[in-house]
Amino acid sequence: MKNNYNIYEAPARINLIGEHIDYNGGMVMPAAISLRTRAKFKLRDDLKIILDSENTDLHVERDLNDLGYDKKYDWANYPVGVIYTLIQKGYKIDKGFEIIFDSNIPLGSGLSSSASILVLTCYALNSEFNLGINNKDIALISQEIEVKYCGLSCGIMDEAIIALGKKNHAILLDCAKFDYQYIPIDFKNYTIAVLQTNKKRALTESNYNQRVQECNKALNILKPKYNINNLCELKSTELDNIKALINDDVIYRRVKHVICENERVYAFKDALINNDLVKLGKLLNESHESLKNDYETSGIHLDTIVKASQEFKDCLGARMTGAGFGGCAIALVKKSSFDEFKKIVEAKYYEKTGINALIYLVDISDGPKKVI
Ligand code: GLA
Repeated sequence: MKNNYNIYEAPARINLIGEHIDYNGGMVMPAAISLRTRAKFKLRDDLKIILDSENTDLHVERDLNDLGYDKKYDWANYPVGVIYTLIQKGYKIDKGFEIIFDSNIPLGSGLSSSASILVLTCYALNSEFNLGINNKDIALISQEIEVKYCGLSCGIMDEAIIALGKKNHAILLDCAKFDYQYIPIDFKNYTIAVLQTNKKRALTESNYNQRVQECNKALNILKPKYNINNLCELKSTELDNIKALINDDVIYRRVKHVICENERVYAFKDALINNDLVKLGKLLNESHESLKNDYETSGIHLDTIVKASQEFKDCLGARMTGAGFGGCAIALVKKSSFDEFKKIVEAKYYEKTGINALIYLVDISDGPKKVI
């Protein structure tokens, strides 16, 4: 390794529950995990920005005065978007630099590799140029970049948990107010396994933005009647009336998922406090069912791995995590049965899809940090 680099890291995340809720102004419960993106950072004496990655061959050279988006720069658009946006916002970045990234977060897998590199770059620049930005604002700026510079109409969940993560805690995040509290995570004899389907997807090319638009359409229909700012202000007791008002099966099912999933997050929090593991598993299963049938963001790969998990004797529940359309799921599995679980579920998944899945355990970890 070369000398005189400063090294920074930012985690990946899983979402325990509250899927496709953040951009609908409700509650989510993500946790930062022990996979990470790392950046080796060195200031230069000129205005050049040099970006490399130990994971790909792409080598990008830009100039501080010319930082527009260009598809050909691929993943490097994330860090460039951060530099561009910070300068636009008036932060003083007046010297070029080199960053060499490396990541052990599987790309396009639903564990938020993109939010991780955004938050990491923002965190590193904040430290190197003494910008005085707190971690909450790092999350907000990073999300703005993903929406405006990278073109994904995402919510605040991923950037928030990556910037604010805490070891052995999830956050219960109110996405409308950006209020949050840390929730200790201890599943006793059980643990959360990550189920990586190895079915990749690029969210900007997926139906993610379409789901956001469908929810906006529903909100426009329901706003005059209920005087709401977000779909998550609605209660499931209103569903029959909502169905009549919307009068469109697809849009209604999107709203039903959003309202019920938001309520499941509160139920999940209560079950965590009461150590009711069976209930936690049941809520994970219900969440998946809703994402599969009503929100339609699952798919054959996620459904296969989730079903194989749910069939395992010592698994209390499983569901897709993150945006879906491929990527990862999570399962609540008895610790002592994990090896058997991994073997059986990976085999069943391969039999059905012909793809090797990867099932592993992760620690719940802290947000970004300077390593050296
Ligand atoms: C992606 C987005 C998040 C969130 C999830 C779904 O990870 O970046 O903002 O919407 O999908 O819950």
